Amino acid sequence: MKSIMSQRYRLLSGYSMPVFGLGTWLLTGATCERIVGMAIQLGYRLIDTAELYDNESEIGRAIRGIDRGTLFLTSKVSSAHLGTSDLIQACRRSLDHLGTDYLDLYLIHWPNDAIPIEYTLEGMQYLVEERAVRSVGVSNFDVERLRDAMAASDLPVCNDQVEYHPYRPRREIPEFCREHNIALTAYCPLAKGAVLRDPVLTRIGRRYSRSAAQVSLRWLHQKGAILIPKASSIQHLEANMALDGWELSVEEMHEIDTIGIEAKVVDTVYT
Ligand SMILES: NC(=O)c1ccc[n+]([C@@H]2O[C@H](COP(=O)([O-])OP(=O)(O)OC[C@H]3O[C@@H](n4cnc5c(N)ncnc54)[C@H](OP(=O)(O)O)[C@@H]3O)[C@@H](O)[C@H]2O)c1
Repeated sequence: MKSIMSQRYRLLSGYSMPVFGLGTWLLTGATCERIVGMAIQLGYRLIDTAELYDNESEIGRAIRGIDRGTLFLTSKVSSAHLGTSDLIQACRRSLDHLGTDYLDLYLIHWPNDAIPIEYTLEGMQYLVEERAVRSVGVSNFDVERLRDAMAASDLPVCNDQVEYHPYRPRREIPEFCREHNIALTAYCPLAKGAVLRDPVLTRIGRRYSRSAAQVSLRWLHQKGAILIPKASSIQHLEANMALDGWELSVEEMHEIDTIGIEAKVVDTVYT
């Protein structure tokens, strides 16, 4: 079995993305630059950012000098910029900040019902044709919005990024994504820390000498999700990538599936 650090998901665009990477929400300034640099040294290849995180320039500095082809950069356009020309301009700003000439994956950060999805996807199509973006996806889209996006353009919707962890098992979105071969990225895979002291995860983790955080990540990995835990220390960066060489049993997966706590950690009206 390949290490999680080298496993990739084949996207509908024909490109492939790492199944594990670094989330960077709330990482800013010198800390962001240092953590991203450290993560790359440890073997992280997927870096997840967004126009709204205000850290693309720091990430740009951290990746300077690294062979671009070895990295996978995801950014997201703010929902305020989903009109065709706004989107194109927002992407150009992100590219400029990141110091690169293409994004591996560009996501619609949040739906915006005031702007028809066709207009947004027209902009995305242009960016793909211009080779500024390789693959296109969405975030915080439920099944209904995913269906609308898929029907609105010939452009494949390659990825949906949603809150997904043991306290937000959201069965319908993973099932839909699996059915349509849409890569599903789990954001807040540690529920922003809320699962760290969960008794079920802690008890299961003890059997493998792993933490509740690692059990949460391993559960998502075995569900087929792409993981982007955020970390701001080398200890957490290393702990989060230690998912090889142990596996949760069917019974343990089921036990986590049925913890029964529903707790959203990101306040979204969409999903
Ligand atoms: N598309 C969207 O709308 C959206 C929304 C939210 C998040 N996201 C993306 O998803 C990424 C991950 O979500 P998130 O940052 O909100 O939360 P998260 O990854 O679920 O949790 C991060 C928290 O867990 C702690 N942590 C990390 N590794 C740990 C470990 N091994 N042991 C104990 N604690 C650990 C971190 O502490 P330290 O920082 O101290 O290491 C931080 O407090 C974001 O950074 C962002 O890229 C996307």
